[in-house]
Amino acid sequence: MTDTRAHFGRLLALAWLLLPAASGPALAADEPATTEAAAPAAAPAEAKPAEAAPVSYSKKGADTCLTCHDDNPVVMAIFNTKHGQPHDARSPFGKGQLQCEACHGPGGKHTGKIKKGDTRPPMIRFGRDSAAPVAVQNGVCLACHEKSLSAEWHAGPHAANDVTCASCHDLHATKDPVLSARTQDEVCYTCHVTKRAEFLRPYAHPLKQGKVACSDCHQPHGTSAASQLVKSSVNQTCYQCHAEKRGPFLWEHAPVAEDCAICHSPHGSSNPGMLKSRGPLLCQSCHSQQGHPSFAYGPSNLPGGSGPTVSTLALGNCMNCHSQVHGSNHPSGSTLTR
Ligand code: HEC
Ligand code: HEC
Ligand code: HEC
Ligand code: HEC
Ligand code: HEC
Ligand code: HEC
Ligand code: HEC
Ligand code: HEC
Ligand code: HEC
Ligand code: HEC
Repeated sequence: MTDTRAHFGRLLALAWLLLPAASGPALAADEPATTEAAAPAAAPAEAKPAEAAPVSYSKKGADTCLTCHDDNPVVMAIFNTKHGQPHDARSPFGKGQLQCEACHGPGGKHTGKIKKGDTRPPMIRFGRDSAAPVAVQNGVCLACHEKSLSAEWHAGPHAANDVTCASCHDLHATKDPVLSARTQDEVCYTCHVTKRAEFLRPYAHPLKQGKVACSDCHQPHGTSAASQLVKSSVNQTCYQCHAEKRGPFLWEHAPVAEDCAICHSPHGSSNPGMLKSRGPLLCQSCHSQQGHPSFAYGPSNLPGGSGPTVSTLALGNCMNCHSQVHGSNHPSGSTLTR
């Protein structure tokens, strides 16, 4: 967690909180910097008195906040999370940290008595219906998470599309739903609506059962790989769990080595085996009828049809003979039949 970034994040937060108060001359250009100067040492007890700066950290930190907010179980649940650990010096509640205000910004006048009819000056809120700009919200988080996260975050489509950290993360929840396989998909579906339908198809990766999570295949923060995959290619991503498909094979099947998604819909499909289309058609999209039994199989080839009857069609399709469609290690398996 770099100090300069931490400063920058907090400065951004301060600057934003100062904006609504821009009526008074008190908003000298160096005001945030002055307040910030006090911030790093700001064990809450050392924060400046409220009169000295229009926006300042509260003297008693979380204790001040909780005089009003302790009736909310959601707020209190932060103490069950990694952010609420006083023994972790890096956590917002670690020694010398700013506690609630590390995220919500300096309490300032928000914590005071409010005259009837006046509105309470806001704190930084998070998530999709927050008034705080995305850069301010995410700046708060990146102030501490910059080191581990920044490179991937700025490479990804979520940052580029102004998605906030808090659109996925629920920091006051005892168990952040996006971090557990069983509940993660629901978080993603709030924006990726069509993906729910794909995983509800009859043949799909078992997400609902918690056996697979979106983040097994996708890097949610960002990466330079296509489709934000966790590995450099589709195949490398699949081999994590389907290692037997990696080979090496004596007789490779070219499209398999190239890209599993040529034949499979990685999320789900209405065809058995999560195939993009059914049996003969799938194969015939590349293989012509010439040369071999690979003439077009259609209804006319079924028993009773007008064409030559093909027993394998009645039973199944090309895979009845070419069962080793992913590749064969049999010495005479060049046509993937064994
Ligand atoms: C004197 C009581 C009081 C204190 C002290 C106080 N708050 Fe608040 N806070 C409120 C009230 C009341 C609201 C609701 C404001 C509104 O709806 O306009 C609120 C709203 C908020 C909100 C936004 C929630 C929303 O629904 O808009 C956040 C975040 C927040 N407070 C955080 C804090 C933090 C952090 C502290 C300590 C620095 C703190 N509060 C101290 C009374 C207080
Ligand atoms: C004052 C520093 C600080 C700030 C600000 C902060 N975090 Fe953290 N965060 C931490 C620390 C420390 C951990 C624990 C890291 C560990 O255990 O390795 C953590 C852990 C996490 C985790 C993992 C939780 C888990 O259960 O594994 C997530 C997710 C997270 N932070 C997201 C955020 C988001 C989103 C924000 C902004 C709203 C934010 N953090 C703001 C310091 C901070
Ligand atoms: C698209 C949803 C999404 C967004 C947006 C998002 N995260 Fe995450 N985050 C996740 C998921 C999912 C995981 C769990 C990853 C895993 O299990 O491999 C995670 C894990 C984490 C962790 C703990 C593991 C780690 O990588 O260190 C931290 C810390 C974290 N996120 C912080 C952030 C911060 C800070 C932001 C904003 C800059 C952010 N996240 C934005 C979905 C998201
Ligand atoms: C690590 C950052 C972090 C810390 C520390 C933190 N919060 Fe929050 N708080 C958030 C985020 C993010 C949200 C948005 C909802 C969520 O993600 O759970 C939130 C939501 C809230 C809300 C509801 C506001 C709304 O938008 O509806 C209140 C009130 C609140 N926090 C008060 C507090 C108080 C009081 C403390 C200290 C005891 C505190 N928070 C500590 C990040 C934090
Ligand atoms: C707040 C809305 C939001 C949430 C929540 C969200 N995303 Fe996204 N996601 C977007 C936007 C916007 C884009 C960029 C536009 C697009 O490609 O649709 C995007 C892009 C992506 C992409 C890249 C698509 C491509 O064509 O390259 C992947 C993969 C992705 N998200 C996965 C996830 C996963 C996994 C989760 C849950 C952990 C998640 N998203 C949660 C909004 C969201
Ligand atoms: C088994 C691995 C796997 C899982 C699990 C998975 N994806 Fe994907 N996803 C992929 C692959 C592979 C692609 C690229 C498809 C292609 O290249 O044709 C992709 C593409 C995408 C895209 C961009 C292209 C599109 O279809 O719109 C989005 C968005 C996306 N996934 C979101 C999600 C979300 C959200 C989840 C969880 C609900 C999820 N994925 C779970 C493998 C997976
Ligand atoms: C995190 C592990 C994981 C990853 C990564 C993964 N899968 Fe799977 N896959 C599974 C599990 C678990 C099943 C269900 C197996 C079962 O039910 O016996 C499955 C089943 C399948 C099935 C069989 C479906 C059926 O109806 O028999 C296909 C096809 C498949 N995966 C293709 C892929 C492709 C293509 C990729 C890469 C885009 C991929 N998988 C990545 C875990 C994974
Ligand atoms: C040329 C088309 C094609 C390609 C490319 C392909 N598959 Fe398949 N895959 C099939 C067919 C056809 C089936 C159904 C086999 C059956 O019904 O006997 C299947 C079945 C599967 C199954 C479930 C049954 C089994 O054999 O375990 C998994 C898992 C699977 N494929 C994974 C993959 C992976 C991983 C890749 C990429 C390395 C891949 N497939 C590439 C055509 C393909
Ligand atoms: C994306 C195009 C594509 C699809 C779809 C496809 N194949 Fe292939 N297949 C190829 C290519 C390219 C070769 C290598 C041809 C060569 O070396 O002459 C090949 C080779 C073969 C061979 C070995 C041929 C030989 O001459 O050694 C068989 C058998 C075969 N495929 C069967 C199938 C079956 C069965 C399916 C359906 C499950 C299928 N293919 C789907 C492109 C495809
Ligand atoms: C009744 C079993 C059977 C069925 C069904 C079948 N094949 Fe074959 N196929 C074979 C055999 C046996 C060979 C090897 C022929 C040879 O060595 O002369 C072969 C060879 C091939 C070859 C290599 C052709 C060549 O000229 O060397 C391809 C490609 C192929 N089949 C694709 C398909 C496709 C696509 C289907 C489905 C539309 C299919 N086959 C259905 C048995 C079958």
